[in-house]
Amino acid sequence: MANRVRTAVFPVAGLGTRFLPATKAMPKEMLTVVDRPVIQYAVDEAREAGIEHFVFVTGRNKGVIEDHFDRQFELEATLEARGKSEALAELRRDLPRAGQTSFTRQQEPLGLGHAVWCARDIVGREPFALLLPDMIFQSAPGVLKQMMDAYETTGGNVIAVEEVPMENVASYGVVARGEGPDTGFAITGMVEKPKPANAPSNLIISGRYILQPEIFSLLSDATAGAGGEIQITDAMHQLMARQSFTGVKYQGRSFDCGSKIGFLTANVVFALDRPDIADDFMAELKTLTGDIPISIAN
Ligand code: G1P
Repeated sequence: MANRVRTAVFPVAGLGTRFLPATKAMPKEMLTVVDRPVIQYAVDEAREAGIEHFVFVTGRNKGVIEDHFDRQFELEATLEARGKSEALAELRRDLPRAGQTSFTRQQEPLGLGHAVWCARDIVGREPFALLLPDMIFQSAPGVLKQMMDAYETTGGNVIAVEEVPMENVASYGVVARGEGPDTGFAITGMVEKPKPANAPSNLIISGRYILQPEIFSLLSDATAGAGGEIQITDAMHQLMARQSFTGVKYQGRSFDCGSKIGFLTANVVFALDRPDIADDFMAELKTLTGDIPISIAN
C-alpha cells in the first residue's frame, strides 16, 4: 500500500506583481474570492483530502498569512459578545489545529523548484502534496481528493492535469499522456513552458501534485531551467527515470487567480455558488449585461 500523504506544501513567496498596487503591502494570496482569501481555498482542499500538516513557504511581506491561520482572541470574544455565533463557528472551523502549521522562508526568488526545496526538512522522508494556491477549483470532491483516490492504487507521484487550447500551453508545464483512463493514466514525459510546436500535448499541469521525497535530492542539484528559474517540472522529469508518474484529468473547473481575468471570473463563479448572495448578485449581473442571462458552464 502507498505511504499515506499527511503533509502539504504551499509555496506563497511570489511577489504578485500582476496585482500591483493591491499587492504592494499585502500578499497576493490574501486577495479575496468573495470573502475568503485565495490561500484559504487551497488549504480547505488539502484538509478535505486528509492533510494534517500545512507547510507554507513564505517570503518578505507575507507575515499576514501566518496571522490568518492563527487565533484572533479579541475578534472571537467580540463575535461571541455580539451573539454572532455563525461567523464565530466558521472562523473556528477554518483554523488549523495547534501544531498543524509550519512556516519557512524562501529568501531569494529562485523559482518554484527552489521554493519546494526550502520545505525539505519540514516534510522529511514522506510523500507530500504540493498545492500552488494561485490555482483554485470548482469541483466536488476537491482536486487533491480526486488525486488521493488515484494515489491509493498507483502510489508513486501523481499530477493533476487539464486541457487548454494549444496556443496557451507556453504558460504552463505540459505532460505527455500514456496508457490509462482520465482517473489515472501513465505520464510518459513532461516539459515546462514549451512553445506550442514542441509541446507533447495540450494537457497542462494544474498546480496540484503528490510527490515522493526523492524529489528533494534532485532539487538540491537543480540548475535553472525555463525563465532562468529552478523548475519543479525539470526535477520531476528526472525522477520519471526512477519512479512512476500518474496523471489525473480531474473533474471540475480551474481558475488561475494569478491572472486578473482568472481572479475576476473566480469571484463571479464562486459568488453565484453562494446561496446567501447568488440571487441578488445574479440580478446585478443581469442589469450590467443588459438582461442577457449569464450561464455558468461547469
Ligand atoms: C507553475 C508550474 C507549471 C504549472 C503552473 C500551474 O508555473 O511551473 O508547471 O503548469 O504553475 O499554474 P507558474 O504559474 O509558476 O509560472
